[in-house]
Amino acid sequence: MSNLISNPIGLFDSGIGGYSIFIALKKVIPREKVIYVLDNKYSPYGYLKKSKLKERSIEIINFLISKKSKIIIIACNTVTTNLISFLRKKYSVPIVGVEPGVIPASLKTKSGIIGVLATKSTISSYLFKKTSKKIVKDVNIISKEGKDLIEIIENDKIEENSTLKVLKSLIDPMMKENADVLVLGCTHYPFLTDQIKKITKNKMSIIDTSESIAFQTKRSLKNEKLLSNSEENTSNLFFYTGNCPKNKILINEKLIKIKI
Ligand code: DGL
Repeated sequence: MSNLISNPIGLFDSGIGGYSIFIALKKVIPREKVIYVLDNKYSPYGYLKKSKLKERSIEIINFLISKKSKIIIIACNTVTTNLISFLRKKYSVPIVGVEPGVIPASLKTKSGIIGVLATKSTISSYLFKKTSKKIVKDVNIISKEGKDLIEIIENDKIEENSTLKVLKSLIDPMMKENADVLVLGCTHYPFLTDQIKKITKNKMSIIDTSESIAFQTKRSLKNEKLLSNSEENTSNLFFYTGNCPKNKILINEKLIKIKI
């Protein structure tokens, strides 16, 4: 049995988006320890130049590896869709990524039209375009950049009326075109699900891939013989790089400032 088994899962995102993946991990593999870097110093990732995004991803993954991570989860569509093949070539540690669920959406749609909300950088990425191409014969994709949504979520403005307005401006045009499935193509967006439902009023199914990422992580750990069988209580570690995160979603977590 590998002695790496008791090592943690290393996870990162530009901010609290990764927490939607963390919650799913705690449901699916609760005995695994997680160390999570919220790289809020460089948030939002969706507007970083690709060279900077690459440099930052390397710095954060190096930090996670220095903390003995047995697997890395890129809990960010922006980094995954732009850099996952480069990062998998660079590191020998297994890497799990998250990309917009257009394939499950294409299986679900009845109208043949799906909406995707994601960051600018995800939408323009090669991987997103490549995955979209696979389904393009059968399905029409309306993608919209979730401008301002990261700022809203990070600053705990989720329940403000102005947030509904921003969401409406993104989702109404999709509904007008008869889209019946909405893909949450950014790990921050699951925290907006209640607000989104106020707009879609059950006329659109929502695709949130958090849980499938947790199951995929479990499968990877099993394949690598790294799945923890510990009966001990696990303690997770949360690190941030910029100002202390404000969102009350993180209220029960102890957050540690790091300089990377
Ligand atoms: N949560 C990330 C994603 O899934 C990053 C969003 C951002 O910082 O722009 O893309």
